[in-house]
Amino acid sequence: MTPGATVGGEIRVPGDKSISHRWLLMAATANGSSRLEGLPRSLDISATAGCLAKLAPAARPALEAWTSSPVVTAERHGSTWNREASTLDLGTLDLQGEGRGSLRRAVRELDCANSGTTMRLVAGLAASSPFETVLTGDASLSARPMERVAKPLRAMGADITTEDGHPPLRIVGAELQGTRFEPDVPSAQVKGAVLIAALAAEGTTTVAERVPTRDHTERLLMALGAPIRSDRTGLVLEGPFQHDGFRGAVPGDPSSAAFLLSAAALTGGNLTIAGVGVNPTRLGFVDVLGRMGLEVEVRIERHELGEPVGRMHLGPSGTLRPVQVDASEMPLVIDEVPLLAALAVHADGPSRFEGGAELRVKESDRLSALADGIRSLGGEAVEEGDDLVVGGGGLGGGSAESTGDHRMAMAFAVTALAARAPSDIDGIESAAVSFPAFFRLLHSLGATVEVSG
Ligand code: S3P
Repeated sequence: MTPGATVGGEIRVPGDKSISHRWLLMAATANGSSRLEGLPRSLDISATAGCLAKLAPAARPALEAWTSSPVVTAERHGSTWNREASTLDLGTLDLQGEGRGSLRRAVRELDCANSGTTMRLVAGLAASSPFETVLTGDASLSARPMERVAKPLRAMGADITTEDGHPPLRIVGAELQGTRFEPDVPSAQVKGAVLIAALAAEGTTTVAERVPTRDHTERLLMALGAPIRSDRTGLVLEGPFQHDGFRGAVPGDPSSAAFLLSAAALTGGNLTIAGVGVNPTRLGFVDVLGRMGLEVEVRIERHELGEPVGRMHLGPSGTLRPVQVDASEMPLVIDEVPLLAALAVHADGPSRFEGGAELRVKESDRLSALADGIRSLGGEAVEEGDDLVVGGGGLGGGSAESTGDHRMAMAFAVTALAARAPSDIDGIESAAVSFPAFFRLLHSLGATVEVSG
């Protein structure tokens, strides 16, 4: 990454990862046909499609064709600079569903690859499917906590074992009963799994979140006509409910947009992102950027299956201010902390990110990977318990390791655009987990990016 160039223009970003997992899962278990447009060709979404192909016979041909498309396989094989693919392959996937009852036991284990969302949401589906399902993942996913999802699903009646709290997850599905679930750890993945299981359960399921998390599952269920409501007690779903097929165009991913907006901010550019999801539970980062002196204008233009879609615009800005992010706002910026910390390096004073314990159990231990990476890029950062303190004053340039984590690779690349000297970022192929075209898009918007290896 060579500093000095300005990043700007108007673009779209690939489809939202969180929304795509949920729409795919619900389409594969619908009663009838569904049409999904704009699914991102990323490895995490390919993992969900691959698992569903093995469980849902009617959807299998379309899902297998999609996961073996040249774009997806090129990314799977670690292409860092996929020149042939269009930046955004906004393909259409037509899926047949024959309802949840048509799911069949997979011949082998289901490989969730690097994707925690795949493992936890598919666990919610497997919990009501009357056969054994085994969910595995790569080395990073195999170290992530799974009791948080196993526990509520067991309370509903499923038989689930973990290996000391970690994958593989062995699930023998059962006839489920509704439950009241008060999560210890705020997690949209676990909430999603419980709500998906609740669709097959007899009676009332209530999810009472103390701290709000992204609400894509409940928006989709409402749009599909499920008997779900939000009241004083929490989110309440009366099961069982079988949904029909549906159509929708996946909004662009605001978490992906955040990387490009920040690149523009650090290089003095003007950037507009069109067709992007603007769900308020995903825009915590816009608020934090505002406190840092970066105004992002957000406009809602339409809705897709209950999700607001619109534009984001960032104009030129002045000096970056340091920021304090409290533990209470952490769940709504959880995926953007790497980026916000990478920006904070360039502020005119120290910033603090509090209560980041959950960051230690993401695709990597993001707290220590951030502290190490920022220091090796010539900046200042230290861990204080589960807080991260980032010194301001900029970066001297250097080299950083993405630790196989897509968000770290992209955050380090963005911060390096404003360093005082060129920097090397290792392991950038991991960006394909959520944003395969990231480096190509950054380059097309004006950044000086050279890819080797
Ligand atoms: C996600 C929820 C978040 C987030 C992840 C995607 C989702 O995790 O970090 O990238 O799609 O539900 P948790 O809410 O489980 O911490």
